[in-house]
Amino acid sequence: MQKFRRTTARFYFMGIKIWNKLFPASVSSPPPPAAMQSSLTSLDNSVVVITGSSKGIGLALAKAFAEKGSKVVINARSENDLNNAENILKKAGCTVLAIQADVSTSAGAKTLIEQTLSHFGPIDVLINNAGVVGPSDKPVWQVNTEQWDEVLRVNVMAAIHCSALLASEAIKSRRPVKILNVSSGIVGHGLTHLGPYAISKDALESVTRAYSWDSEEGIVCAVSIQPRSVRSTMTKDFYDRAEYAMMDDADAVAPVFLWAATAPAALIQGRSFSEPLFAGDPSSAKSIRGQLVGAQPITIKPATFISNTDNSKQPGAYMHLLENANGFYPSAREQLLKELEQRDIYSYPDPEYKTLTKALATETDLPEDQIALGAGSSEIINRLLQLFTTPGDSIVVTKPTWSFFHAFSARWQLIPTQVAMVGSLADGTLRHNLDGLLAAITPRTKILYLVNPCNPTGSLLPKDELETFIASVPEHIILVLDEAYIQYADPAQRPDPKQLLASCKARLIILRTFSKFFGLSGFRIGYACASAETVNLLSRAMMPFGITTAAAKIVPTVLKDTTFRQQVYDNNLEGREQLEQGLTKLDINFLPGQTNFILFDCPTDPKRLHSDLKKEGLIMPDVNQFLQNYSVLAVGKKEHNQLVLDALSKY
Ligand SMILES: Cc1ncc(COP(=O)(O)O)c(C=O)c1O
Repeated sequence: MQKFRRTTARFYFMGIKIWNKLFPASVSSPPPPAAMQSSLTSLDNSVVVITGSSKGIGLALAKAFAEKGSKVVINARSENDLNNAENILKKAGCTVLAIQADVSTSAGAKTLIEQTLSHFGPIDVLINNAGVVGPSDKPVWQVNTEQWDEVLRVNVMAAIHCSALLASEAIKSRRPVKILNVSSGIVGHGLTHLGPYAISKDALESVTRAYSWDSEEGIVCAVSIQPRSVRSTMTKDFYDRAEYAMMDDADAVAPVFLWAATAPAALIQGRSFSEPLFAGDPSSAKSIRGQLVGAQPITIKPATFISNTDNSKQPGAYMHLLENANGFYPSAREQLLKELEQRDIYSYPDPEYKTLTKALATETDLPEDQIALGAGSSEIINRLLQLFTTPGDSIVVTKPTWSFFHAFSARWQLIPTQVAMVGSLADGTLRHNLDGLLAAITPRTKILYLVNPCNPTGSLLPKDELETFIASVPEHIILVLDEAYIQYADPAQRPDPKQLLASCKARLIILRTFSKFFGLSGFRIGYACASAETVNLLSRAMMPFGITTAAAKIVPTVLKDTTFRQQVYDNNLEGREQLEQGLTKLDINFLPGQTNFILFDCPTDPKRLHSDLKKEGLIMPDVNQFLQNYSVLAVGKKEHNQLVLDALSKY
């Protein structure tokens, strides 16, 4: 009964709360909000308070703001340090007030804010910079109580006390203020043995967010800024001498603070800015959130896309991205033409992609809930990195590997450990170093990426070796097995996805694409085979209707087109043999492979070969050289292969 009464009361009060939110009483409405953009636009005559500013970043900021015309208030616990700093600033002609106070106590914070108000009047900007590193030589569980208290008090409580006092003033007078919290590059990038410092800086980021949430109208605008490590007394003990010598002076970090102090509150409220990323690319730092700020767009040169109809001398020779030389499947063409008569082709696809998923389940002999769809396997790679990793995670990849993977992992700020292949091309033994890949895994490794058959070597791992390897990958790893070219490999030697998934302790994601063997690169369609649980996770980050209706319609058709599939396989095999025999005759070393491309030792500068073949209308793959003059030949139609061999015979 008591429980019932309590529940009823809770619902009653909740109801009142919701009612008040929906229909606020007009009498208690707050005064109209100060517009978000009404904050400071010029620093001239502004009042800027900087805690912990007797040296390092704090002092550099005091100087930078004073040079822009601000009246600066510096603060420190030590009288000596503070006097020194005051002298430096006064000599430089700055308008400065020095206030000695321990702002990590509420009394100290009060002294700082009240003395500033009575001396300079209203405060425009508060920079919460006071901080200590704390113990940096022991794991977090060995840090003692006093050390915890000290770091959290100075790094977090000081910011909270000073901000609270300033915020109440600002809200009372409805005069906008900026709070800039000096965070750290350590946020999101774990460093060992800096537990209290790292925790305090994470906490400071959440102080920023809390102030911004509670001041939606932007009167109190709070921002975190993560500066680079600079040469200071604070970093001197932590970094070794060589690293320390390479660091910048503290004033390098000033531009982002000067910008944030005058930027519109609506743009920066509650956000966290990485100072090095801001310095490198201010425009993206201002407009993009989080880790994508530092990412480069992946550029694919349009020059390589020479259409068959305009300037290419070789119709159908479209081999630079290792597509299928046999072109569009006739059955797909027929299906598409038929579909053009139907309404379905131009409307939304089936949101569950039932027919498509069923066709892929049949193809792989897996249950439908073990198939995830994507707009090409590139999209699935990007999505799984977004989903499963955080900046600073380590990943293990082969060297070389598919170049896009590097671009995607840079986009998500992952740290790659590259494991070089072993063997040599000259004697045909160049291959993945499976033991090396396993040895490179640490508890911090999130992803292991392996392409099989390999791009760019074309070699397929023997089934039993792959199975043993997969069974040895530890449980905490997400193992990405990219099978972009698997349909070109000898069917008897292809691994069975079902068996691989059953034997792997790790979270295995097998990627397949329709861009290569099935010639549907323009339709952007790929899929992943994984456990039902992984497929479910992958679907969380999927775009609704992310696969086009046309792709969803065509794929089941090409999968069923066993006649053309066999023809594509046979033609590729013949073309590969034609190239291999030609290369042997020319005495050029190559790696016998199982794909629609061949890694070979180019008898001239590969750039020259590319440019000579381009003149003939053949665009060859632009695979980075990773050893000497190695390059990649795509298997094309017979006549194209012959042109390539003719060109090679001239060097
Ligand atoms: C190894 C590898 N994986 C994935 C892809 C991407 O294919 P998709 O077109 O499905 O994104 C390629 C394309 O070149 C590739 O070589």
